[in-house]
Amino acid sequence: MTETCFLEGRGDLSEWRDAARRFLLAGIEPKDIDWRLSGDEQGLFGAPEATTPGVDLPPLPQGKDAQIAVPPAFIRLADAVVCHSDPGRFALLYRLLFRLKSERHLLDVRTDADVALAHRMQKSIGRDYHKMTAFVRFKEVPLPVGVAGRRRFLAWFEPDHFIVARVAPFFQRRFNDMDWIIATPRGGASWDGQTLLTSNKPAQKPEISDETDELWRTYYASIFNPARLKVKMMMTEMPKKYWKNLPEAELIPGLIAGAEARLIEMGRRQATEPLPFHHRLQKASARGPEAPAPAEAGTLHALRQEAGRCTRCDIHCRATQTVFGEGPADARIMIVGEQPGDQEDLAGRPFIGPAGRVFDEALSLAGLDRRALYITNAVKHFKYEPRGKRRLHQRPNAGEVERCRWWLTREIDLVKPKLVVAMGATALFSLTDRKDRLEDVRGRSMVLDEARTLFVTVHPSYLLRIPDPVRRDEELARFREDIGEIGRLAV
Ligand code: URA
Repeated sequence: MTETCFLEGRGDLSEWRDAARRFLLAGIEPKDIDWRLSGDEQGLFGAPEATTPGVDLPPLPQGKDAQIAVPPAFIRLADAVVCHSDPGRFALLYRLLFRLKSERHLLDVRTDADVALAHRMQKSIGRDYHKMTAFVRFKEVPLPVGVAGRRRFLAWFEPDHFIVARVAPFFQRRFNDMDWIIATPRGGASWDGQTLLTSNKPAQKPEISDETDELWRTYYASIFNPARLKVKMMMTEMPKKYWKNLPEAELIPGLIAGAEARLIEMGRRQATEPLPFHHRLQKASARGPEAPAPAEAGTLHALRQEAGRCTRCDIHCRATQTVFGEGPADARIMIVGEQPGDQEDLAGRPFIGPAGRVFDEALSLAGLDRRALYITNAVKHFKYEPRGKRRLHQRPNAGEVERCRWWLTREIDLVKPKLVVAMGATALFSLTDRKDRLEDVRGRSMVLDEARTLFVTVHPSYLLRIPDPVRRDEELARFREDIGEIGRLAV
C-alpha cells in the first residue's frame, strides 16, 4: 500500500525529517511513499483528502525506539537538498536515509546515482545562496511624512530554490543597522533591528527604484575592464535571468559592444614615457647623493611646494609629478592611500582614477562629503613598471615608504585631523610601522597618538582586483560598511 505524505516543502528540514523518521521506524520502503507538496492538491484527479502536512503519518515510537543514528554528513546534505525546488527531493532524501541503514558508507560512493544527484542539488543550493548574497539590491522606501525612525529598505529577488530562510541570517549580519524586507516568489524575510522574520508566502514584485540604481550603474561601469572581458565567463557569473532585477545589467550589452573601442582608447591614453622635465630630475638624482631634507614648511601650501621638488628616493625619477594631499587644511578626517596610480600621476591629484571612483561611491553611500576630507597617500610619487605602452603599478618598498613618511608626518602635524584612515597595508605601515595582516586590524579604531584615532580598512584597488564577482560584491559591501564607520567615528 502506498503512503501519501504532504509537506509544505519550503526548505524546512525538520518538516521532512519528522515524517521520514516515522516512515523509517515503521519500516516503510521508499517505493511505498508518495511525497507531495501540500499545494499540489489540484492535480489531475482533484484534491486528495488529506492536505495538511503531517496528517496520517505513522505514529512515532517513544524513548530510545524513536532514535535513528545518521552520519552528520547526511544531515548537512539533507539540510541543503530539502531547499531544492525539484519535487523529487523528498523521495531522494528518503531513499538515501533508507539505504544508509544497510550501506553505512553510502555517502562516500560519489558515483552512486542517488549520492551524485544529492550532491548536484547541494551545489546548486550553494550557487543560489551566493547569487542571492551578491545580487540582492535594496531600494530605500521613504518614511511617511512626519514619521521618524530607522531607514527602511526593500529588495526583490528571484531565487531558483527555497533558500530565503537559509540566506536571511547573512543579510541580518550584513545590513544590521537598517530595517529591510526581502521579498521573493519563494517567501520573504525581514529585519527591524530586533527580530529576523521569515515567511513562506510568495510575494509579488514591488515597483520601486531609487538613486542607488544609478550608483550601481556608475560602480559597474567603473570596474568594467574591457581588457579582461571574457563574455562567456561573465554570463556564467551573472546569468541573464538575474539581469531584470539588477539596475547595472542594462549597461552590459553596451559595454561589451564598446569594449574594443575602449581598449584602443586606453592604449592611446596610457603613455609610457615620463614627461620631459623628469629627464632633468633623473639626471640630477643620478649625479649626486640624496638631496638634503627640505626646511620645515610652516603651511600646507609651502609643504606642497617643497614636496613638488622631492628627490628623497628614486621613484620621483620616472613619475610625472608629486601627487600631494588635497583637502581642507583643518579637515577632521585624513584619508591615507598607498601611492598615486597612473591617472593620479598624470592629473596631479589623489584618488581620481578607478580606485578613487570606488572610494567616492562608498563615501556618497555613507553620506560623507569628499570635499570635507583631507586625502593623501603614504608615497607621493607613482611607482610603476613600463610594460609596452602601459605603466603597471608597483608596490613601493619599505625604504621608499619610510622616506616618504617625512611628508605624511608633516601633513598630519599641519592638518591635525581627529581621525586618520589607513586604506591598505602600505598606509598602515607608513602610519604605525606595523606590518599586521590587514584582516586582523581592519574595521577597528585604535589610538594613533594622544590626539588622534586610527581606523584601518582595505585599499579600494584591492576590490577592483578580486576576480570572483560574488566575493568582490561581498568585499565591496564590507568596505562600504567601513567607510560608513568613519562617519560615525568622526562625529
Ligand atoms: N591608489 C592610491 O593609493 N592612491 C591614489 O591616489 C590612487 C590610487
